[in-house]
Amino acid sequence: MNDKPNELTRVHSFILLVALLTHSIATVAAGSTAVQELLKGFTATPDSSVASFQPLLIDSIGNYSLGFVRVDQSQLALAVIHIPSHEQLWVAGNGVLTKWSSQTQLLFNGSLVIYNEQTGVVWSSHTDGERVRLSNMSNLLIEIGSLTIWQSFDFPYNTLMEGQNFTSDMTLVSSNGLYSMKLGLDFIGFYAKFVANSDPGLLYFQHNPMEAKAQVMKDAGPIRVILSSDGFLGMYQNGTAPVDVQPFSSFQQPGTGNRRVRLEPDGNLIGYYWARSSWLVDFKQISDQCDLPSSCGPYGMCQRGKGCSCLDNRTSYTSGRCDTEEISASIDNLCLKKYRIMRRVGVELPNKEIKAYTIMSSLEKCERACEDNCTCWGVTYSNTSGYCYNIDYPIQTLVEVLDDTKMGYFKVSKSTKKDNTSIKLWVGLGFLCGIISLVLVIGGVILHKKESRGVKGYVEEDGVNGGVGPYKNLGSASFKSIELSVK
Ligand SMILES: *[C@@H]1O[C@H](CO)[C@@H](O)[C@H](O)[C@H]1NC(C)=O
Ligand SMILES: *[C@@H]1O[C@H](CO)[C@@H](O)[C@H](O)[C@H]1NC(C)=O
Ligand SMILES: *[C@@H]1O[C@H](CO)[C@@H](O)[C@H](O)[C@H]1NC(C)=O
Ligand SMILES: *[C@@H]1O[C@H](CO)[C@@H](O)[C@H](O)[C@H]1NC(C)=O
Ligand SMILES: *[C@@H]1O[C@H](CO)[C@@H](O)[C@H](O)[C@H]1NC(C)=O
Ligand SMILES: *[C@@H]1O[C@H](CO)[C@@H](O)[C@H](O)[C@H]1NC(C)=O
Ligand SMILES: *[C@@H]1O[C@H](CO)[C@@H](O)[C@H](O)[C@H]1NC(C)=O
Ligand SMILES: *[C@@H]1O[C@H](CO)[C@@H](O)[C@H](O)[C@H]1NC(C)=O
Repeated sequence: MNDKPNELTRVHSFILLVALLTHSIATVAAGSTAVQELLKGFTATPDSSVASFQPLLIDSIGNYSLGFVRVDQSQLALAVIHIPSHEQLWVAGNGVLTKWSSQTQLLFNGSLVIYNEQTGVVWSSHTDGERVRLSNMSNLLIEIGSLTIWQSFDFPYNTLMEGQNFTSDMTLVSSNGLYSMKLGLDFIGFYAKFVANSDPGLLYFQHNPMEAKAQVMKDAGPIRVILSSDGFLGMYQNGTAPVDVQPFSSFQQPGTGNRRVRLEPDGNLIGYYWARSSWLVDFKQISDQCDLPSSCGPYGMCQRGKGCSCLDNRTSYTSGRCDTEEISASIDNLCLKKYRIMRRVGVELPNKEIKAYTIMSSLEKCERACEDNCTCWGVTYSNTSGYCYNIDYPIQTLVEVLDDTKMGYFKVSKSTKKDNTSIKLWVGLGFLCGIISLVLVIGGVILHKKESRGVKGYVEEDGVNGGVGPYKNLGSASFKSIELSVK
């Protein structure tokens, strides 16, 4: 290839031409390819000229569209979006499915399938339907005649639309995968995954029904939640009267199809109202920022009505976070006692009402129970009540209280600093080795040159590579660790 520059430029201009052509086709086709129903035999391939969204299907009013979403340039997701705002309302398989490439295909053969030539079926609706349609409420439907046999509303992502039933076998997941919402026997539960492989995770907020008009019965079956077009989040059991109503600001304002709720990346459930050109916040499940599980990030401190600061009073929050050390380091560091202790007076856990505690007669006892426990990251203690709360996940944000009898004890993992210095040491050693081998090699080469002139090229290359190799490897390893500690 290197010695054929002409051919290369020809290939380039050909690619450019094809790109230009497909781009103009795509621009023309954007409206016309997005049809109102997909029938058996339909296929579509991601268009290389599309930068963010490639529509495939639209609803009858033109508010919503199903299409390919381009993620990080090279990845593909299948999503239903709200056209005017580009908000993603539903995502197949809750995220990225495969590569954005001509080897990827969406097909409908009774099942809606995302297929990749290399990896096979990546996602499928596992149905045998006749037709795919998008309802005017953004529900993706697979139908036989007028019968719906599959709907995207049964597989929610992070959003609930009006009229969508949220039942006890469903989960909403925030886009960062950290938070989830699930129904309990008689409450809406919000969970955080601060520790990997913990399911469903830490319960950080719980909404219990008011039971104003009806009561939750023990034997009357599971509850469900529906966003009503009258502007409230209703909880129902088996009757038509809600057991709980959480009204939005737009309560009883006319107009259907204008509301949605979404579990946000900060763990809050937010309601939105479409005001013709933008979404207005209509409802917040957790009204005070400080009651969110990690409003100021790891090792942060939330001051009601003021904002964020840090648990460590020597650290300022100006950089937008408090954890300067690698706190996501593995739990092994706690077992190996690679941590230091930080204490703070006047703090408590957010939503401590729903958290388990033991009663201890003193702060020392409360701390000691945590000290030797590999899964304990810290405690908070109240000197008046004796309540000792164990924190069995990496420390997140605590709430400041003007009460000196409430205090916290926190472990701060030390891993990164040590790793950094040891890597520097290894890099240094590698560098030294490199120089020594270089000297040896040069020496060898000179000797060789004196003895036999025939094999010099081979010796030179081999020797130099052997000396620089480990230095290079260590160099990239330390680069990785620098990247990690910057994050
Ligand atoms: C549809 O195509 C996929 C992928 O080729 C295949 O696995 C599936 O069995 C097909 N479904 C039907 C109903 O033909
Ligand atoms: C949306 O669809 C429903 C039936 O599925 C219909 O009753 C309603 O009028 C439609 N809304 C609009 C604005 O077209
Ligand atoms: C929600 O549940 C109700 C009652 O079971 C049902 O009548 C309605 O069709 C469901 N709506 C959707 C969109 O599934
Ligand atoms: C609804 O709850 C009542 C008790 O409150 C019960 O008698 C009834 O059988 C329940 N209906 C269903 C369909 O579960
Ligand atoms: C849907 O489309 C109608 C008609 O264009 C518009 O009045 C309404 O605001 C749209 N709704 C949403 C949620 O975009
Ligand atoms: C930080 O906290 C420690 C212990 O609580 C205290 O002794 C120190 O005075 C505080 N420093 C500042 C700058 O507030
Ligand atoms: C360690 O703490 C966890 C909770 O953080 C607790 O479940 C466990 O029993 C404790 N282990 C010991 C040995 O105390
Ligand atoms: C906790 O309470 C005990 C007894 O009430 C008291 O002696 C002690 O000083 C208190 N400690 C703190 C840190 O407030």
